[in-house]
Amino acid sequence: MCVQEGISRDDYIIAFGGGVVCDLAAFAASIYMRGCKVILVPTSLLCMVDATLGGKTGCDFVGGKNLIGSFYPAEQVLICPPLLKSLSEREYLNGLAEVLKHALLSKNEILHKFLISRKSQILLRDENTLLSLLEMSLEVKKSYIEKDPEEKLGIRQALNLGHTFGHALESCGRFSRFSHGESVAWGCVRALEASLLLKIVNENFANQAIKLFRLYNFDIDYKIGRGEWLEFFNTIQKDKKKRDGVVQFVLMKDQGEYVLTGLTKQMIMNLVISNPGYVND
Ligand code: GLY
Repeated sequence: MCVQEGISRDDYIIAFGGGVVCDLAAFAASIYMRGCKVILVPTSLLCMVDATLGGKTGCDFVGGKNLIGSFYPAEQVLICPPLLKSLSEREYLNGLAEVLKHALLSKNEILHKFLISRKSQILLRDENTLLSLLEMSLEVKKSYIEKDPEEKLGIRQALNLGHTFGHALESCGRFSRFSHGESVAWGCVRALEASLLLKIVNENFANQAIKLFRLYNFDIDYKIGRGEWLEFFNTIQKDKKKRDGVVQFVLMKDQGEYVLTGLTKQMIMNLVISNPGYVND
C-alpha cells in the first residue's frame, strides 16, 4: 500500500483508531524504508493511556500476542478526550484498568485518590475530569519509560504489572470472554495477593489497591476452571518477560515500589484456581 501510494521516508503514516490500528501502523512505519514518520490519533482509552506512549509497536504472530514488533516512538500523539464518549461502557472500562494500574505504580497517591473522589465524573466521562485523568495517568507511564525506554533495565517492566496473569486469562478466554483491561485488573489483584502471601508488601497499600479494583466493579474474584489450568500455565511459561528462563512477575512492595520475581507453580495455582488440591497437572 505504501509503495502503491508512493509514500517516501519524509511522509507520514497517520493512524486513527484503537490499539491494534496504532500498533500496526507504527510497526509498518518503523520498517517501511527503514522508518518513515508516524502520527497516532488514538480513539480508545486503552490506546490513549497505554499503547501510544513509549513507542512499543507490534502485531500478533502465529498465535503469540505482539510477537513481532519494534520500539519506534511516534512523531506526535494527538489525544482528543471527547472521542471517549463514543466508546461502549465495556471498552471504556477496558482502558480504565490500565489507569488503575498506573495509580499503583505512581510514586504518590494522587491518582489513586482522584480515582476514588471523582469516580462518578470519571464514569460519566466528564471532559475536564478526563483531561486530568489522562494527564496523571500518562505522567506515570512517562516516568517509567524515560528511565528505561527499551525495557532493558527492569524499570519499564513494572508497567507489566498484572499482565502475565492477565494474558494467561485472556488466552484461556480465547481473547473474547475477557477484555484486556478486565484481565489486567484481575492480574493486578493476583499480583497483589502474591505480594501479600510472600509478605513483601505493605498490607494497607495492598488492601487499598484491591479495594480500588472492586470500586470500579472489576470481577477480581474470578477463578479459572480446573480444566483451564494447563493452558493457563503454558501461556504463563511463554511470557516474553523471562530472566534466565524464569518468568518475571511484577509484584508490589508499596506505593510505586515493585519487585520483579519468579513464582512457584504451586503459588500460581493457589492464586488462580478455586480448588487447587484437585488439579491433575
Ligand atoms: N504497555 C507496557 C509498556 O508500554 O511498556
